[in-house]
Amino acid sequence: MQQPVFSLTISSPTNIALIKYWGKRDAKINLPINSSVSVTLNQRDLRTVTTVSASRSFSRDRLWLNGEEEDVNASRRVLAVFREVRARAGDLRDPKTGQVLVRKDEWDGLRVWVVSENNFPTAAGLASSAAGYAALTFALSKLYGLPDSLADELSCIARMGSGSACRSLAGGFVAWDMGQRADGVDSRARQVADEAHWPELQVLVLVVSDTKKTVSSTAGMQTSVDTSPLLAHRAAAVVPGRLAEMEAAYQSRDFGKVAELMMRDSNQFHATCLDTYPPVFYMNDASRAIVRMVHALNEAAGETVCGYTFDAGPNAVLLTLKRHLPTVLAAANTHFPPKRPVEATLASESLLAALKSTPL
Ligand code: DP6
Repeated sequence: MQQPVFSLTISSPTNIALIKYWGKRDAKINLPINSSVSVTLNQRDLRTVTTVSASRSFSRDRLWLNGEEEDVNASRRVLAVFREVRARAGDLRDPKTGQVLVRKDEWDGLRVWVVSENNFPTAAGLASSAAGYAALTFALSKLYGLPDSLADELSCIARMGSGSACRSLAGGFVAWDMGQRADGVDSRARQVADEAHWPELQVLVLVVSDTKKTVSSTAGMQTSVDTSPLLAHRAAAVVPGRLAEMEAAYQSRDFGKVAELMMRDSNQFHATCLDTYPPVFYMNDASRAIVRMVHALNEAAGETVCGYTFDAGPNAVLLTLKRHLPTVLAAANTHFPPKRPVEATLASESLLAALKSTPL
């Protein structure tokens, strides 16, 4: 007899940290050594689209990322997300009729296939793991009939996949509180300001390179924790004050302050990479030229019209205001003509809100 396949597709945005997460106190469940904050980008611009399908005819769990099959059992992170979602499984219901399609106690007989695609360079320092694990967590939670009331737990599950992923489940300006507990239940993201708070804000992504980085964030930050005295100082003495200032500046829409804090934090994060032994280099000559361009632009304008931040890769994320966009775009196109900047706006909806109505 032909077995039914239950499928659903969701898309998840990426987020860009303005105060960075770098370093874990527990690498098994991704507990960070400092809190961090980010803005969630609009899914139109940078996103992961993930389809999950369950059927009795599948003999094992499988996963394809950008068309290539990955070994599910070789990835502790993917296994963790599956395990945590399955532990909370409920009934899968048809969203239209409410009819139960898979009962809570029937899940053991079904395996799941996951197909995930990014519309931006994977592992090139554009937070692809953030969008990917947020998408995986959310898609599986919908498939397994988890109630929306488990939002905080979903944030923790996404965090176990990839730390930064917990910040992609909400839109707007999002804080990931490091938490204090060893089991990590208080290490999760919360929305500080929603998507409508600052419509003037505009993001520009300058893709300097779309090749995969040689040192992953996971490996790089572990070496930093083990070897960099600057990282320990940053986490304990710099980040807490900076987070408070950043939150206040974002709340009051003080662009000059947000941009300055974000640039300083990006620079310090890359300084800790240089302080790591052996050092890790994520920025390249083109990245550094962009840094100089932004400072020159701000100086020429007599005010801060643009800020930059770089994650674990050479690509630049610029933050500006809509009214300064022509100036910033003109500068970027003049100095980096072959690469057209990707204009990205902030998320207009939280993933959690958007997906309540996802049809099966
Ligand atoms: C530089 O979240 O990719 O982008 O938890 O090991 O998966 P894992 O690391 P990941 O690290 C992101 C680091 C960063 C800064 C940030 O997003 O806060």
